Amino acid sequence: MIKVEGLTKVYGPITAIKGIDLDVEEGEFFGFLGPNGAGKTTTINILCTLLKPTSGRAMVNGFDCYTQPHRVRSSIGLVFQEYTLDNDLTAYENLIFHCYLYNMSRRDAERRIGEILEVVDLWDRRDSLVKHFSGGMKRRLEIARGLLHRPKVLFLDEPTLGLDPQTRLNIWDFIERLRRMEGITIFLTTHYLDEAEGCDRVAIIDRGEIIALGSPEDLKKGLEGDTVYLRTSNDREAKRIIEERFGIEVGTIDGGLVFQVRGGERFVPKLFNGFPIEIVSVNIKRPSLNDVFISLTGREIRES
Ligand SMILES: Nc1ncnc2c1ncn2[C@@H]1O[C@H](COP(=O)(O)OP(=O)(O)OP(=O)(O)O)[C@@H](O)[C@H]1O
Ligand SMILES: [Mg+2]
Repeated sequence: MIKVEGLTKVYGPITAIKGIDLDVEEGEFFGFLGPNGAGKTTTINILCTLLKPTSGRAMVNGFDCYTQPHRVRSSIGLVFQEYTLDNDLTAYENLIFHCYLYNMSRRDAERRIGEILEVVDLWDRRDSLVKHFSGGMKRRLEIARGLLHRPKVLFLDEPTLGLDPQTRLNIWDFIERLRRMEGITIFLTTHYLDEAEGCDRVAIIDRGEIIALGSPEDLKKGLEGDTVYLRTSNDREAKRIIEERFGIEVGTIDGGLVFQVRGGERFVPKLFNGFPIEIVSVNIKRPSLNDVFISLTGREIRES
């Protein structure tokens, strides 16, 4: 559905993206994760035909983003990072205006608006001015607008930026519901790790380069060490036995034991097998995508 080869964008002295390659399958929920200024919006803008690449190629739905922009535009829906609704129009008016831009017939437009306003739970507010909407309602309306013309791919640039945590969760639930209902391809940028965790695959971008690509599970598998927390009826003895049997160093915290192993979910059954001391509880903490980013760059996503 999306194919990117050697894509580069230079703004004077700044190279915003440096020869990136990407493939996104039809129906995939794809996340583009990176810190501020990494090149996420630049990439989306090229894919959405708003920006000309300096070199390289981008295709969406089989069409070239640079030489066939109209074909690409009818294949995609876009929700910008910045707020773009018309405050002085009602929700309904914002949507019908968009339908006309996409050359939809009045009948089709009306039917589709009704359908989509139900999905985003705004049908009852269709005649309210958008300036009276809350942040979360506005975001839902923008997403609805991006879906009106039944695009094959929906681009969402930081869909939950600037929203409070509860509204973020709400929008996120809604995006997941939408993905199941409409069955479309979703390409989303974010610098929130928890959002990236929910994607089928994630590309991590840093300073214009893709430094990792894969499912969140696969990316984390590459890291050494899940952390295992263990409580037993005799920690001192348990520590000694684990160190001896498995040759790993075991630490103690808060009246329990802690150690790092690779593939914790396979290690724990081995540990249980014939263990002479009663195990009271066990907890495995997996590495996060933040740990992946740190291991690749030495920095946290947030601090940059
Ligand atoms: N029109 C422009 N002219 C000059 N430099 C630009 C322009 N647009 C973006 N840049 C630069 O390109 C780099 C990538 O910017 P981009 O907006 O793509 O990052 P981003 O990953 O979307 O960041 P954010 O998370 O803050 O939205 C930054 O260094 C930015 O300053
Ligand atoms: Mg951006």
